[in-house]
Amino acid sequence: MKSEEIPLNRLYGDLSWLWPLFSPTEDYVEEASHWRTLLHELLGPGRHRVVEFGSGGGHNLSHLTCDFDAVAVDLSEEMLELSRKLNPGVEHMQGDMRTTRLGRKFDAVLIHDAISHVTSETDLAAAFETAACHLRPGGVVIAAPDWFKETFKSTWTTECSYSSADMDLTAFEYLHDPDPEDTVIEALLTFVIDRGGVCEIEHDRMFLGLFPLALWRRVIRSAGFTFSRRKFFLYSANLDYTLLVGRRK
Ligand SMILES: C[S@@+](CC[C@H](N)C(=O)[O-])C[C@H]1O[C@@H](n2cnc3c(N)ncnc32)[C@H](O)[C@@H]1O
Repeated sequence: MKSEEIPLNRLYGDLSWLWPLFSPTEDYVEEASHWRTLLHELLGPGRHRVVEFGSGGGHNLSHLTCDFDAVAVDLSEEMLELSRKLNPGVEHMQGDMRTTRLGRKFDAVLIHDAISHVTSETDLAAAFETAACHLRPGGVVIAAPDWFKETFKSTWTTECSYSSADMDLTAFEYLHDPDPEDTVIEALLTFVIDRGGVCEIEHDRMFLGLFPLALWRRVIRSAGFTFSRRKFFLYSANLDYTLLVGRRK
């Protein structure tokens, strides 16, 4: 099978039922603690109002809802449904981070790893324009790109396995950069779902954005923010982790 034959973004559609097992809520504890600390450092103490665009299954958000009042927005109804179950106190809405206008202002806009699904500079500018429209002056946007042009090697692979009461899931992910001249990389995913020795195999494919830091800085500043960058080491995932921060002027 050629990769072009694989439908796109199945993990957020017909395969969304795999998300809780593939990306367990517990895996976000350390990451979310950095978001909580950073939000309080930037905004001061208090129960601030936040909106997350591309909130997915709400796994990162689930560790923040004790401290913040949250609204969750995602393109995928299937992912919103997962998040509604996990975060019953959160208002959920279907929307695109490039175009949504809720007509409300927040203290912070969060765009977690969903920002990696934005693949062009024009769409990135639209996403930060959306963020600016939803922030009071002095409010902040925080984004967590998975990759930067400077640090992405030509390919990246990973394999992980998880078990639940009724199945074992093994996932293989292969990221590659078919055209290093553009801003898009392709992720190919294979899921082996083993139910008591009977295996089902599913494939998925996604396009992700790959931009140099200078472009992130330029786009965030052009949307009316001051720009800063925070770097962490995530011990639970053994990786360097960067959050991009914009403060609305
Ligand atoms: C990796 S998942 C996010 C997972 C989330 N961080 C969590 O903790 O569960 C990426 C999500 O981004 C959403 N997404 C992709 N493009 C989007 C867009 N333009 N606007 C809104 N959501 C988008 C997808 O539907 C998907 O749910």
